[in-house]
Amino acid sequence: MPQQRVKLKLKSSARKPLIIVGAIILVIIIILSFYFNRIGELKNLGYNEEAAKNIIFKFKYSYVMDIGENKTLNAAFESVDYKEDNLDNYAKIDYEEGEHLITNINKLLNKGYSVDEVNLIISKGDDESVSDFAKRDKVKYIEEFLSVDYAKLENLDRYVAYKEKENDDAETTVLYVNMDFDKEDYVDPLVIDEFDDYVLVNKHRQLSSEYVPDDLVTIDEEYVKADGEIEIERNVAKAFYDMAEAASKEGLELMVSSGYRSYKDQEEIVNTYLGLYGQNYVDNYVAKPGFSEHQTAMSLDIASKSVDTFVNSDEYAWMMDNAYKYGFILRYPRSKEDITGYKCEAWHYRYVGKKIAKYIKENNITYDEYYVMFLDN
Ligand code: DAL
Ligand code: ZN
Repeated sequence: MPQQRVKLKLKSSARKPLIIVGAIILVIIIILSFYFNRIGELKNLGYNEEAAKNIIFKFKYSYVMDIGENKTLNAAFESVDYKEDNLDNYAKIDYEEGEHLITNINKLLNKGYSVDEVNLIISKGDDESVSDFAKRDKVKYIEEFLSVDYAKLENLDRYVAYKEKENDDAETTVLYVNMDFDKEDYVDPLVIDEFDDYVLVNKHRQLSSEYVPDDLVTIDEEYVKADGEIEIERNVAKAFYDMAEAASKEGLELMVSSGYRSYKDQEEIVNTYLGLYGQNYVDNYVAKPGFSEHQTAMSLDIASKSVDTFVNSDEYAWMMDNAYKYGFILRYPRSKEDITGYKCEAWHYRYVGKKIAKYIKENNITYDEYYVMFLDN
C-alpha cells in the first residue's frame, strides 16, 4: 500500500507542468487563430498583409472594421509615416496613387488645410506636384480654382495671376490658363511627346520637326483638288470617303485640297504666304512649322469640285450641317477666333471621331476647349 501511494504522488507532480505547457500552447493557438482570422477579415476588405498587421498591432481592428474598405487607410497603415492623430482624416481623403500620399496628407493637414482642401489638392496634382506643393506655405484660393473639374495644381499660381488681371470667373480662368492664354502665341510652347489620334496642336502646343504620323495613306485621285498627291491618316481617309459618298447622294462633290503636311512643307507654305500676303496674313491663317494641325495628318482642307471659294458652295453648307456625323469638326469657326487664334477657315476640318464631333457641335465649343476639359490629364 505505501508503495502505491508514492507512485500516485509522482504521477500528479509530473502532470502539472504538462497541463501548464498544454494550456500555454492552447492559448497561443487561440491567439494565433484569432490573429490570422482577423488578418483574413481585413484582407477580405481589401487591406494588404502589411497594413492588416499594423492595424492589429495598433489596436485599430474594430475601428477599421467599422469603416470597411478604404484605400487611403490601407496606405496609411502601410506607411512608416502613419500618424495616429490623422487617423479620422485619412479615412475621409480619397485615395490617389503615389508613393508619398500619406506623407503629403500629413504635411498638408499640418499646414492647416481642411480635409476638403486636401482632397482637392491631391486630386488635382500628381505625386510629385503635390509633394512640391506640400512644401509651400499655405496658399489661398484653393477651393475657388481647384473645384473646377479640369483644374491643375501646378497651374494654381497662374490662375491667381490671370484672375487678378482679367477678373474672369474661376471656371473661365482655369479653362483659359489651361489653354495657355496667359502666354503669348508661340512663346514657351509645350513640346508634344506623346501622340495619339486626339493630339491637340495649336499656337501653344508644338510638334517636333521630326514628327511624322505612322499610318498615312494616299487620298484617291478622284477626290484630290490640288497638284500632286495628298496623304492623310488611314481612319481619316475612311471617314472622308464615307462623308463624300453621303454628300454625293445629295448631288454634292466634296474634294480635298490639303491633308498631311510635313514640318518642311509647312516651312515652305509659311514662306510662300509671307511673300504673297505678309506677316499679318500668316499670323491669322498659317501656322508656324511644328504648330500646324496638318502635321498630325488628322486634318483636311475640304473643297468643292465646282465652286472655287468653298464658303460660297453648297458643299460648305452641307458640311456645316453634316460633317460631325462623320467625325469631322470645323476647326477654326468665325465665332471662336479669339480661342483658336486663327481667322475663320471654312475649309479646314479636323477629324476627332463621331462622339467628340457631336459633343463639340452640340455645345458650340472648339477642340481646344474640349481637349482641356476632357482629354488633358
Ligand atoms: N491654316 C492652318 C491654321 C495651318 O496652317 O495649319
Ligand atoms: Zn488647313
